[in-house]
Amino acid sequence: MQFNRLIYSVFALLQISYAIDLDITSTDSVCNAASLVIDGVLDYYLGTRYGGTVGMFQEPYYWWESGGAFGSMIDFWYFCQNDTFEDLIYEGLIAQKGSNNDYIPANQSTTEGNDDQGFWGLAVMEATERNFTNPPSDQAGWLALTQAVFNTMWARWDTQYCGGGLRWQIFTWNSGYSYKNTVSSACLFAIGARLGRYTANDTYIEVANTVFEWLEDIEFIVESNGAYSVYDGAQISSNCSEITTIEWSYNFALLLSGSAYAYNYTEESIWLERTNALVSGASIFFQNNIMYERACQGSGTCNNDERSFKAYLARSLGQTAVLVPSTYDTIYPWIEASAQAAASTCNGGSDGHTCVLNWQNSSATKEYGLGEQMSALEIFQNLLINERPAPYTDEAGGSSTGDASAGISSSSDSSTLSGEDLNITSKDKAGSGVLTAVILALLTGGTIWMVV
Ligand SMILES: *[C@@H]1O[C@H](CO)[C@@H](O)[C@H](O)[C@H]1NC(C)=O
Ligand SMILES: *[C@@H]1O[C@H](CO)[C@@H](O)[C@H](O)[C@H]1NC(C)=O
Ligand SMILES: *[C@@H]1O[C@H](CO)[C@@H](O)[C@H](O)[C@H]1NC(C)=O
Ligand SMILES: *[C@@H]1O[C@H](CO)[C@@H](O)[C@H](O)[C@H]1NC(C)=O
Ligand SMILES: *[C@@H]1O[C@H](CO)[C@@H](O)[C@H](O)[C@H]1NC(C)=O
Ligand SMILES: *[C@@H]1O[C@H](CO)[C@@H](O)[C@H](O)[C@H]1NC(C)=O
Ligand SMILES: *[C@@H]1O[C@H](CO)[C@@H](O)[C@H](O)[C@H]1NC(C)=O
Ligand SMILES: *[C@@H]1O[C@H](CO)[C@@H](O)[C@H](O)[C@H]1NC(C)=O
Repeated sequence: MQFNRLIYSVFALLQISYAIDLDITSTDSVCNAASLVIDGVLDYYLGTRYGGTVGMFQEPYYWWESGGAFGSMIDFWYFCQNDTFEDLIYEGLIAQKGSNNDYIPANQSTTEGNDDQGFWGLAVMEATERNFTNPPSDQAGWLALTQAVFNTMWARWDTQYCGGGLRWQIFTWNSGYSYKNTVSSACLFAIGARLGRYTANDTYIEVANTVFEWLEDIEFIVESNGAYSVYDGAQISSNCSEITTIEWSYNFALLLSGSAYAYNYTEESIWLERTNALVSGASIFFQNNIMYERACQGSGTCNNDERSFKAYLARSLGQTAVLVPSTYDTIYPWIEASAQAAASTCNGGSDGHTCVLNWQNSSATKEYGLGEQMSALEIFQNLLINERPAPYTDEAGGSSTGDASAGISSSSDSSTLSGEDLNITSKDKAGSGVLTAVILALLTGGTIWMVV
């Protein structure tokens, strides 16, 4: 008897110490798990360290992933109604918005791509829809910040090559400027669809539709048997005809949630069809209902960016199941099985509950980091989609101040500044130090005359 109890206690201890205890039917249990995991997210945060930059995570994590992480933390605040990190989130979103309120802060302007800006745009969209604590009324609201990201990205829509699309990079001197990738356009698409539903302004939906149709025309999105495949992108040198067909979960995530928002608002059958074809297509990221990053996880080749992609798929699945209820019965079992699998493999690190990349196999390699923590956080908290209201709108539940023309008014605005405006030739590209100085000058003082 005593011995059995001892054995039982040892097992109980092992269970608690070397994984996360998760009862998917209990809000308290889910939030306890999410809370352990978000503490792990913040282990990588610089903003609370002496001399660290507010809003940034430590190297090697790029700036865009901070935008992703802030979106995840806003949802923790919302789903678990836990305000422990409210100030930290607020300050991070404000610190990185840049002097033109468009998420092209001077520090990032020389390296930032369309997708990087897009992920911060999605974070402030999340803040808008969750009615996150507003900035004071004399400062740009979350909605206005999102609109600035949308307006500046849409202004870069480029019909010169491939009949449309966003280039990966904003500035000519960054490698990737000649590549049109799905994720950049998909960020614009998702932000547009969500702004459309939030503000009930159909112009945003029309833009979203233009983006989606272009992705189909250029065959970055391809339909087969009612399921979409979504490819990575193509070089403009081939006029986007030679497509890199690798499939990433974050591309599905953005297209799926955007379609779901558009359907929820418009109730048009085309958006329901697109949503359903993306849900069917996204099934390639599940084995036994457990989510995995198909293109790199099995081979152990996921880079730091790719290791966070499951976070965005988890978030988008939650949004889709709520906004298009007919998808719920397909999606929710994915979330449940993935959350249970993730909890059982959050057994790394000295704390015994650091999460790992592979949720399918607890004895596989223990890669851990910011992306792994974010992915586990998102899959846990999206178990709570039934417990909290659907994303708010301007009309119902939201309170954020907007500005439909945000980002497009200022002539020295970084957003309207493309490398081509500066007439940068390949010779100039070598002198990127000079260019950096020029860009910083433009951003801070609007001294464009020096360049012209
Ligand atoms: C809120 O989250 C923090 C950080 O993980 C945690 O320490 C705290 O216990 C949570 N609060 C509640 C009421 O669960
Ligand atoms: C810009 O980068 C520098 C150097 O890393 C840092 O000290 C500063 O806080 C950053 N500023 C912002 C607004 O991020
Ligand atoms: C490039 O692709 C677009 C979109 O498919 C097409 O409209 C355009 O004619 C193509 N241009 C050339 C030069 O092939
Ligand atoms: C709707 O959005 C478009 C695109 O940003 C904007 O130009 C227009 O002013 C908006 N309409 C209203 C009524 O806010
Ligand atoms: C939109 O989302 C709400 C909230 O989940 C849901 O009640 C409603 O049925 C959805 N509308 C459509 C057209 O699916
Ligand atoms: C789990 O990972 C271990 C270690 O890499 C490997 O030996 C084993 O075959 C894997 N099991 C499955 C089912 O993939
Ligand atoms: C949204 O925030 C505003 C301002 O704090 C508040 O008045 C309103 O009640 C909130 N809405 C919801 C649904 O909580
Ligand atoms: C860049 O070149 C184009 C055409 O060569 C010209 O129309 C434009 O004014 C130039 N822009 C600047 C900023 O010099």
